[in-house]
Amino acid sequence: MNKANLTVKVPATKETSYHIYIGKGILDEVLAKTKQEMPDKNIFIITDENIEKAGLLDKLDSEKACPRFVISPAGEVSKHLDTIKDIVEYMDSLCLGRDTVIIALGGGTVGDMAGFAGAIFKRGVSVIQVPTTTVAQADSAIGGKTGVDSSRSKNAFGTFCSCDAVYVDVEALLTLDERQYLAGLIESVKHGLIVSEEFFEFIEKNIDKLLARDIDTLIKLAKYNCGIKASVVEADPQEKNQRRLLNYGHTIGHAIESVSNFDLLHGECVAIGIIAVGKIEDKLGLLKDNRVARIKSLLSKLCQPTTIPKNISIEQITECLKMDKKAINGVPKFVLIEAVGKSYCDNGQWAHEVGQDIIIDVLKQMYA
Ligand code: GLY
Repeated sequence: MNKANLTVKVPATKETSYHIYIGKGILDEVLAKTKQEMPDKNIFIITDENIEKAGLLDKLDSEKACPRFVISPAGEVSKHLDTIKDIVEYMDSLCLGRDTVIIALGGGTVGDMAGFAGAIFKRGVSVIQVPTTTVAQADSAIGGKTGVDSSRSKNAFGTFCSCDAVYVDVEALLTLDERQYLAGLIESVKHGLIVSEEFFEFIEKNIDKLLARDIDTLIKLAKYNCGIKASVVEADPQEKNQRRLLNYGHTIGHAIESVSNFDLLHGECVAIGIIAVGKIEDKLGLLKDNRVARIKSLLSKLCQPTTIPKNISIEQITECLKMDKKAINGVPKFVLIEAVGKSYCDNGQWAHEVGQDIIIDVLKQMYA
């Protein structure tokens, strides 16, 4: 007998939870609170050069007491495995151990990379997310997705790894340039479209205050966003089904983002993707109201593109769609809505196959 079978029993993992703190000017409380709540941990900060230039790193750690890694250049161009290697090698060179807590200060790329580094360093250390952009405060800092891009597609390598706390300081949004600020608000529009007409109406009614970055309105926006994101993630933390809702507008959006070589911002691509998916809904008989005009009007107030740039071809987009993370055997799946605030569910599924002929027809209509 030269064979044996054994079973390893893995005890059920304990349910975890963490706090999301929302406020104005709370950035300079993060270190003190972390030291109070995690007195035995060594703090390591991960941020990028834009955040440093904007003065937010100094605000977080005014005494420059904590070791840090500043990602350079900032942005999606650095979101790859080489940067992760640089971060964890540097942490290792400082002899940091499992008792480390990483504070991720920045937008989505910093949060995703810091979370990934935290997930793999010494097989996992604590991570606190301090999102500073409209995208990160609404979406990427909450829900434990971490990772980097491959040379072909976005977020190709990564983990699901929950963090230990999130601090949303809406004052950080005042440091963003107008284009970044506005494009990031598309994740909020998306939240309204998929689950909450009330939130969509809040954005419509408060658009002037949002454009003016009114602090009280930004706090209300953050409460809506974090509540919606948390409830979707709680229902399906590992994106087996319902969490896919958060990809509304992202299927075509991500493809355009990859093909555009990141000339277009994530939110701008999602804005185009939202209009495209509205046309798909129309072809599938799910558009029985005037919502596409309503959405277009809101997107235009947010200065977002709603057509595909001429230098991007239909073939480039359809090639990229095959690599979408929801694709099965190269066939992409789309999240669809049937009304503002009401996602379409068929047979318990929240993402749906759409015929290639429909996709191509819609893409043809998406050029100005
Ligand atoms: N950003 C989409 C998600 O967290 O699932």
